[in-house]
Amino acid sequence: MDIDSLIADRAKRIDASGIRRVFDLGARLKDPINLSIGQPDFPVPEPIKRAAIDAIENNHNGYTQTQGIATLREKIVEHLRTDVNWDVDPRPLSSADASKPGVMVTSGTSGALMLAFQALLDPGDEAIIPDPYFVMYPHICTMVGARPVLCDTYPDFRMTAARVEPLLTPRTKLVLLNSPSNPAGVVASNKDCRELLELCRAKNVLLISDEIYDTFTYADACEPSPFGGGSGAARCPSPARFPGAEGDVFLIRGFGKTYGVTGWRLGYAAGPRRLIEEISKLQQYTFVCAPSALQHGAVACFDVDMSAQIADYQKRRDMVVSRLSKVTDVTVPGGAFYAFVKVPERLGLTASRFIDKCLENSLLVIPGNVFSKRDTHFRLSYATDARSLERGLAVLEKLMR
Ligand SMILES: Cc1ncc(COP(=O)(O)O)c(C=O)c1O
Repeated sequence: MDIDSLIADRAKRIDASGIRRVFDLGARLKDPINLSIGQPDFPVPEPIKRAAIDAIENNHNGYTQTQGIATLREKIVEHLRTDVNWDVDPRPLSSADASKPGVMVTSGTSGALMLAFQALLDPGDEAIIPDPYFVMYPHICTMVGARPVLCDTYPDFRMTAARVEPLLTPRTKLVLLNSPSNPAGVVASNKDCRELLELCRAKNVLLISDEIYDTFTYADACEPSPFGGGSGAARCPSPARFPGAEGDVFLIRGFGKTYGVTGWRLGYAAGPRRLIEEISKLQQYTFVCAPSALQHGAVACFDVDMSAQIADYQKRRDMVVSRLSKVTDVTVPGGAFYAFVKVPERLGLTASRFIDKCLENSLLVIPGNVFSKRDTHFRLSYATDARSLERGLAVLEKLMR
């Protein structure tokens, strides 16, 4: 059978060759220095593992409510109350207070993004996403027939209202903010968040805030909360913290990166109840529910302190910036565990050509054109052991000098 003739354009349009090429070449390297990985290298904290194991042993292995198990929803709601000052109703949608925002546990942060795009975008609609972007963003637009409109954020990688405003059209349905960002690690300021929220409100466009890396925000990028709550500690700025945001912001967060459980496929979404209702319907007929036993594991997450791991990542960030800034331009990442590093112009190389040189030195990093229309930077992940990071930085210093 000619299977190729049966494949839909939607699937054919997705070009995964850039990233696949790096991984394929990397697989052939002996003892590669792998700075391409987008997940934490610390072990999953014991209480979280134990909670998931106990859940399996106690027979929590069946389907759950599509919205997620009640204990996890309650934990998320409690966290959102202190962190963003939202009064979310954790009860199932059928019995929840209709005037309050809703919450749903999803199959990864990706699941929440995918369902939100499906629920909001009709063919021909537009979604404004940052460039550089997390690889999935343009594809989840085109999969629903919508148009991804790229907001060029070079050279500082800030998605500001001033950069977004000229891109708005009558077809724009949503603006996607990702802070801290993948691939640049850039954290939006309170001012950036407020101005973007005001612009979106004025134009009746939904602001989706992908905050999967919110826990990985380093001290210099944290700011006091605009509502003054959360024990007064400075935190990662979020548009969700501004008064009334729960009606205009769709907040997406995850467990995978924060606790090192990326394979558990767990995230959550909170925001306008009308949208949660639609997303819940779509989840019912696609993913059905997030993994059952692992939802029980995630209940333990909220009581685990990750500050030691975050402090360790901040030290690595400092090392990356201090060493590479001597040989090229690095926008200081305020969060996540990536740096988006410019290939020095004096080398006269595209980032793809530079990556070939890295591979010749057994170093794996990701060329910027996997995340962008431009081919001038590469993404380095410092979520790796100290020896690999040290070896990788030494190769980069040698190649860039
Ligand atoms: C910005 C961003 N959003 C979403 C995701 C997807 O995360 P999850 O594994 O929770 O689906 C990632 C994963 O790398 C990411 O970097």
